Amino acid sequence: MSNRAVIESRALSVSVPRRGGLPFIGRPALDIVVEVSLAIQPGEIVCLVGESGSGKSTFGRSLVGLMKPSAGEIHLEGEMLPDHSSRSFARVRRSASLLFQDPVTSFDPRQRIRSIIAEPRRIAGRGDVSSAAIENLAASAGLVPDLLNRFPHGLSGGQARRAAVARALSVVPKVIIADEPTAGLDLSVQAGVLNLFLDIRDTHRTGFLIITHNLAVARHVSNRVAIMYLGRIVEAGPTAEIFRAPRHPYTAALLASEPIPDPRRRRTEPPVVGEVPSVVNRPSGCEFHPRCPLARERCRSEAPTQTAIAPDHVIRCHFPLEATQTERAESNTATSR
Ligand SMILES: Nc1ncnc2c1ncn2[C@@H]1O[C@H](COP(=O)(O)OP(=O)(O)O)[C@@H](O)[C@H]1O
Ligand code: SF4
Ligand SMILES: [Mg+2]
Repeated sequence: MSNRAVIESRALSVSVPRRGGLPFIGRPALDIVVEVSLAIQPGEIVCLVGESGSGKSTFGRSLVGLMKPSAGEIHLEGEMLPDHSSRSFARVRRSASLLFQDPVTSFDPRQRIRSIIAEPRRIAGRGDVSSAAIENLAASAGLVPDLLNRFPHGLSGGQARRAAVARALSVVPKVIIADEPTAGLDLSVQAGVLNLFLDIRDTHRTGFLIITHNLAVARHVSNRVAIMYLGRIVEAGPTAEIFRAPRHPYTAALLASEPIPDPRRRRTEPPVVGEVPSVVNRPSGCEFHPRCPLARERCRSEAPTQTAIAPDHVIRCHFPLEATQTERAESNTATSR
């Protein structure tokens, strides 16, 4: 990977003590995120996609130090953090902003929106905190000045999300990590938030890591996608390429579960079936094998390693699908934007 990346994880892992264990005799560690390598370049939107419980939020939080990684490296603009101490992560937080899944819970309920948005500038000791400047900032996120005098509980979900975006932009970060930024929003509000991200990317060359279980979001805004399964990236590559011809059986199955708007198109891949296995009880070999329609004997015993199948396209599978097998009709991806 290039060393110009605004933020990059190399083989980053996160383990947590298992819930419900006995604290005094030691609780066995559970691996939630396993050796994830992902780089976000300036002006690039990367979507991290996976079913609920696959470890996406844990990865996002560990990138900014809200959860301590158990192994691996984090690089900031080509420079490796010396360690995983809070001092190192203070540096990360000067370049990276995390947009929480539910922004209201991250706001101080006693502060007005105006002061919540201005706070990063006050903390950083730079940037204009005059009323006019904060109103400008809010307007860039689509918030009208009247809303700035409200308290967080006085905003709708979409308005709160916009306030969180304005706050994240208060000191323009090099990278924004947004966890499920469109979840629970009306379609029109979703489009507003995503278009705002595209504007921010284009104006400031901010990099984005958007965490989502919504493939339509990834298709619409991302330049690259990474597909996560049980804490591992199983496929990552250019969005247009992956949506046109997924190579990992899991990616193919996920795409097949997406509603197809065009009734003339027929499915060629089986949709993903079965429950997501738990990290408490990881399957042997390839962890997708109990759900994989293409699993063979080798898959049950041997874990596939990550290999490159095209420039900037990696996959973790012994028997990748041929591109010609999964080729899909061209659809509207925003990657040409
Ligand atoms: N202390 C813990 N004990 C057991 N499981 C945990 C613990 N902490 C997190 N998990 C599990 O880790 C998995 C990943 O969680 P998360 O990162 O929130 O996934 P996602 O954001 O993809 O939905 C979930 O299945 C969650 O239940
Ligand atoms: S390694 Fe085997 S089980 Fe795993 S995704 Fe590939 S074909 Fe399926
Ligand atoms: Mg999550």
